[in-house]
Amino acid sequence: MLIDTARLLLRPMVSSDFESLYAVIGDPITMQFYPEPFDKQRTLDWIERNMRRHAEDGTGLRAVTLRSTGEMIGDCGAVWQPIDGSRELEIGYHIRRDCWRRGYATEAARAVMTFAFGTYAVDHLISLIRPENLPSRRVAEKNGLRIDREVEWKGIRHYVYAIKREDFLTEGAVCEP
Ligand SMILES: CC(C)(COP(=O)(O)OP(=O)(O)OC[C@H]1O[C@@H](n2cnc3c(N)ncnc32)[C@H](O)[C@@H]1OP(=O)(O)O)[C@@H](O)C(=O)NCCC(=O)NCCS
Repeated sequence: MLIDTARLLLRPMVSSDFESLYAVIGDPITMQFYPEPFDKQRTLDWIERNMRRHAEDGTGLRAVTLRSTGEMIGDCGAVWQPIDGSRELEIGYHIRRDCWRRGYATEAARAVMTFAFGTYAVDHLISLIRPENLPSRRVAEKNGLRIDREVEWKGIRHYVYAIKREDFLTEGAVCEP
């Protein structure tokens, strides 16, 4: 259930993550590419939904914590998304604003990709990203994802970034399911 990297430990969310998570997804600048920042109720629902996803699917957004202090600074994980009539595994991430540009999202997402390819017999992973969300696009591109197509997702135009298993493997990861 745990995913660790050089600096981070990713673990399933728990109810007591509320304050830490609200500092991330309740922030209007962090959530500028969403219709609005999350209020307290949506933040509680977000934690519950991801706890349920873990119970039912074995995957969902996880708490991203610093190994050095245990502090929760965001979320990252692989989530099953219904898209174009099928179900695809999406890599998602949110990092608290004062921790941006230290490579945390890239590091967390890469570890989640290794977990996802190693756990599920999927031939590709995706990220749904609004064209104007340049930081998120950069994280995806640094981890080898490329624009595959465009979709209307929740009524908003998104790029579907994707990476095939064989392309991830060629970068040296060991992740057979
Ligand atoms: C997207 C997000 C998770 C990136 O987190 P992060 O920890 O700062 O990302 P990293 O430090 O790993 O940076 C990855 C790359 O993005 C670039 N980047 C980060 N923030 C950027 C910004 N505001 N503008 C331009 N580039 C940016 C970094 O410079 C880095 O590229 P580089 O190595 O070529 O310089 C963070 O900006 C965030 O939480 N955004 C709001 C939530 C969100 O939109 N999530 C994605 C939904 S699709």
